Amino acid sequence: MSQVYLNGQFMPLEEARIPVLDRGFLFGDGVYEVIPVYQRHPLALERHLHRLAGSLAGIRLDNPHSEEEWTALLLRLVKDAPDSDQSLYIQVTRGVAPRDHGFPQGIRPTVLAMAKPMAPPPAAWLAQGVSAITREDFRWLRCDLKTTALLANVLLRQQALDEGAVECLLIRDGFVTEGAASNVVLVIDGVLCSPLRNHLVLPGITLALVLELAQRHGIPFAERSIGEAELRRAEEVWITSSTREMLPVTILDGVPVGNGKPGPVGQRVLSLYQGLKTP
Ligand code: PDD
Repeated sequence: MSQVYLNGQFMPLEEARIPVLDRGFLFGDGVYEVIPVYQRHPLALERHLHRLAGSLAGIRLDNPHSEEEWTALLLRLVKDAPDSDQSLYIQVTRGVAPRDHGFPQGIRPTVLAMAKPMAPPPAAWLAQGVSAITREDFRWLRCDLKTTALLANVLLRQQALDEGAVECLLIRDGFVTEGAASNVVLVIDGVLCSPLRNHLVLPGITLALVLELAQRHGIPFAERSIGEAELRRAEEVWITSSTREMLPVTILDGVPVGNGKPGPVGQRVLSLYQGLKTP
């Protein structure tokens, strides 16, 4: 039975309970993190904890734990989980109080952490690539914060699933931002390109690792605004996330991307990324 951490205690998932007045439930008033774990080693843990600290500051919520405390409790979950490859989930909400939009005074945040088994993406997805659709990005203007208020992302991802696609790529005012639950990297004229990391995009840890690998291995890359027309003429389109690593998009809105096969630049970066899994 898998254990979860809830407000200072470890307990079986089935026993973990959160009151209905939790502001995470009522308002989506909270932030979260997802951290990949390979062979019981969290990948880029410090960066995830740093991003969590930034998300908490962004919603004006004190960080309930020091980095050392977070690390200790997460490593305990990792150690006790049945599987060695896992994804760690952390959620911090503003806590429990009678429903009122303004911040309640003197309450404790709700802190939840849990591990679940993580399987690599299906081999067929990597060999043939996946389909994606595009939609207008109708989310709010602080997509750099990893908040639990994900209704727009949920609706956009579901539109992709309804059409037999794996992801929905988002376009705001004619420019690519990211996927419903992933970042986007493209190859345009041989250069690995990703949209500017600003308030409209989650600063993905996988994306950061990918760009650092490109830099270290002399693969030309650029972070810049990418118009919709460039997306449609890209030689390669890839999505990145902690749970899906790097996936090639080979069909976009029903049209083949490049030659319709996973491209060589992304494949090279993906194989370099695999090397990060062994500490
Ligand atoms: N989501 N952009 C969005 C909107 C995301 O939700 C995610 C990841 C990413 C990629 O970030 P990272 O590389 O740090 O995982 C980008 C996680 C996996 C989730 O919500 O489950």
